[in-house]
Amino acid sequence: MDSRDVDTGLVAGSAAEAERMPGDVASFVILGGRYKLGTPIGQGGMASVYQARDEVLGREVAVKLFRAGVIGDDETDRQQSEARVLAGLSHRNLVTVFDVGTDTATLHPQTYLVMELVQGEDLHRARYNASLTEEETAAMGAGVADALAYIHGRDIVHRDVKPANILLGGRGDVQRARNPKLTDFGIARLMDGARLTATGQSIGTAAYLSPEQAEGISVTPASDVYSLGLVLLECLTGDAAFPGPAAASAAARLYRGPPIPAALSNGW
Ligand SMILES: Nc1ncnc2c1ncn2[C@@H]1O[C@H](COP(=O)(O)OP(=O)(O)O)[C@@H](O)[C@H]1O
Ligand SMILES: [Mg+2]
Repeated sequence: MDSRDVDTGLVAGSAAEAERMPGDVASFVILGGRYKLGTPIGQGGMASVYQARDEVLGREVAVKLFRAGVIGDDETDRQQSEARVLAGLSHRNLVTVFDVGTDTATLHPQTYLVMELVQGEDLHRARYNASLTEEETAAMGAGVADALAYIHGRDIVHRDVKPANILLGGRGDVQRARNPKLTDFGIARLMDGARLTATGQSIGTAAYLSPEQAEGISVTPASDVYSLGLVLLECLTGDAAFPGPAAASAAARLYRGPPIPAALSNGW
């Protein structure tokens, strides 16, 4: 759905394009002289993700473009930390990172991360379209748990395990939950590192935070496991265990556990 001229490559951004591509991206099309941006495929709290073409290797990739103009030193650290954390990892249930760069052709330099393109939907969107069956939930959970065991073995805590950060296959794909990929290491932290404390603590989605995250105390691998537990529970029951606005959701975690339906089989 890319309406730009394939031959000219670089075009000045129109207003319509600016609207379609938030984050100052409209003023250039080829990042770092190599990655040609195409359709937007996702958006999170701090970045937009686009399908893109790697013009050097001739393949489709995903490019995560961090929002421009709001970057303080902390943010730059956060972005580069995500790249560095991911670059050292290789696991079938983790999104593979290919490259990182900063495009300086715009008013505000923009950092971007180039990743493997996962065709499909994230779990947040997938659940709106068709809830996962119990079997799919188990397959998805096993894959994400494998990825977590892998990163925890390398002293990394993800800290933001939630449906929007779990990528699945596409709609109608019967295997959609078999090979989940965990993404978005934007607030991951090496367990013994002192980096990113200020921002890392406060960013995350309240609905899936562990009690220790809600309280702002030290985070361990168990926090990721707790968050995955809440994700699985929501897939199985259809309801968030701790709904409501961020503060209410986080506070509820401190005085009660999540409701576990009695009907859940022992395996769960
Ligand atoms: N490699 C990828 N392939 C396909 N879609 C992706 C990929 N990475 C991210 N997305 C989509 O983009 C969304 C935002 O990406 P994410 O890295 O979570 O950004 P943020 O840090 O802003 O939350 C995800 O929820 C997902 O839907
Ligand atoms: Mg995200």
